[in-house]
Amino acid sequence: MTPSEIRDELLAQHARLRSLMDEVRHVAERAARGEPVGGELREGVSRVAEVLREHNQREEDLLRAIIPTVDAWGPARAEIMDETHQREHDDLHQALLGVGERPHAFAGAGVRALFDRILEHLAREEKIFLAEELLKEDTVIVEFGG
Ligand SMILES: [Fe+2]
Ligand SMILES: [Fe+2]
Repeated sequence: MTPSEIRDELLAQHARLRSLMDEVRHVAERAARGEPVGGELREGVSRVAEVLREHNQREEDLLRAIIPTVDAWGPARAEIMDETHQREHDDLHQALLGVGERPHAFAGAGVRALFDRILEHLAREEKIFLAEELLKEDTVIVEFGG
């Protein structure tokens, strides 16, 4: 896989997450207004949790392999990727599971705040890890097993 293929794949997953969260956000708003959409909200939130988890796993695998090779700051970035970033992945996932269990308690502001945190996470990594100048086609070719 080339760096730009990695970038494209992860950005496509970000786009999918954004549109999924957008849908579920509307359901959360309806729930907050008292509409009987608790089941739909719970399903939506667990779908977001599932898609986010798959994405995070893929991101950790791909970036762990590529970040150390990118530039002089690579090793430092890889460390950030491994610890802080991974912890945040776990936190976000746990928070989603918590909302999924009690959707009504979180229906309005809770879902909004959590989704906003996820959006911030995506935006930040698009700046730090997924910047176009960082993952250029000609930087390096990376081979992955499996
Ligand atoms: Fe991430
Ligand atoms: Fe990501």
